[in-house]
Amino acid sequence: MDQIEYNLLRHTWFPLARLDDLKDGVASGHILGEELVVYGDGGNVTVAQGHCPHRGVALRLGRTRGDTLECPYHGWLFAGGTGRCVRIPSLPDGTGKPNASLRTFPTRIAYGLVWSCLEEPFLPFPRLPRYIDDSWRIAPGSPYSLRCGMRQLTENFRDKAHFPFVHAGTMGDVETTVAPYRVLQDGWELSWSSSWRSANTPSRFATEPGHRLDYHVTLPMFASIRVTSPSGGQRLVAQLATPVTSDGQRVRQFWLAGVDGVSIDQGADLADILDYERQVFEEDHPIVENQLPAEAPLDLHSQVHTGADKFSIAYRRRYAELLEEYKTRA
Ligand code: FES
Ligand SMILES: [Fe+2]
Repeated sequence: MDQIEYNLLRHTWFPLARLDDLKDGVASGHILGEELVVYGDGGNVTVAQGHCPHRGVALRLGRTRGDTLECPYHGWLFAGGTGRCVRIPSLPDGTGKPNASLRTFPTRIAYGLVWSCLEEPFLPFPRLPRYIDDSWRIAPGSPYSLRCGMRQLTENFRDKAHFPFVHAGTMGDVETTVAPYRVLQDGWELSWSSSWRSANTPSRFATEPGHRLDYHVTLPMFASIRVTSPSGGQRLVAQLATPVTSDGQRVRQFWLAGVDGVSIDQGADLADILDYERQVFEEDHPIVENQLPAEAPLDLHSQVHTGADKFSIAYRRRYAELLEEYKTRA
């Protein structure tokens, strides 16, 4: 990625870990090659530099003591929230201690995920589409580390033309043609809708004829699909991609599944849906890890497109506009 894109992504919110990964109080993640440590509990979570300022040990190996983080090497304690060093056990009581702090980063909890941003956020915090209300239950699945770019993964998520070839195992015999569709734009969000026709569905979660699919992507990488059944129940699958290396060629794939109140009343089981969506994602992995280039190119002339790729074209164009906007405002 070029310097402008790298700078923009330093100013972008990304998920780092699941709240569930904090069960013992400490988790970690990478954004653009920087390791960050996450510590605390559901009520009070801090994101800080991943290595101790004393001798550089990875703080993900540490543990929490109350709301502080203890370095595993010499036991320095760093406060929650500020990252300030509050105790150095090797110093006799009453001696002055060096002024040491962990650099901390903006932190948010949303959708069961801990999010952070390396610099002051440039874009608003991304949200799922407005149809999500209090009746929904949403949970994150187990994340994956993948050798591909963030845009490549986002385009894969919205790509319907691959279903019959990649997802026959989970989705059954899906029709190959993609009906013409329109892409709508609202700020940095793109959306499109389509219906579903499938001859044979091997799983009770697979989409059946008469279902409606609503796709949303909030740039740069928060993608979701709402599936509405003829009976009115809705379910959701969403994907988020965190660039973990500074060249943008590796990502951490986070994802969510959800069901609305109607589906819950109809007996939908979120754990089963998470298991189904996990299988679908795993079918995609050999594809997205074996594409060249590893990141979707913004130059539209470097690949061949069809009408089914309309969304990807709109996404690449809008992404280029986002870079322009960042360049002029930053
Ligand atoms: S390396 Fe962390 S306390 Fe010494
Ligand atoms: Fe897929």
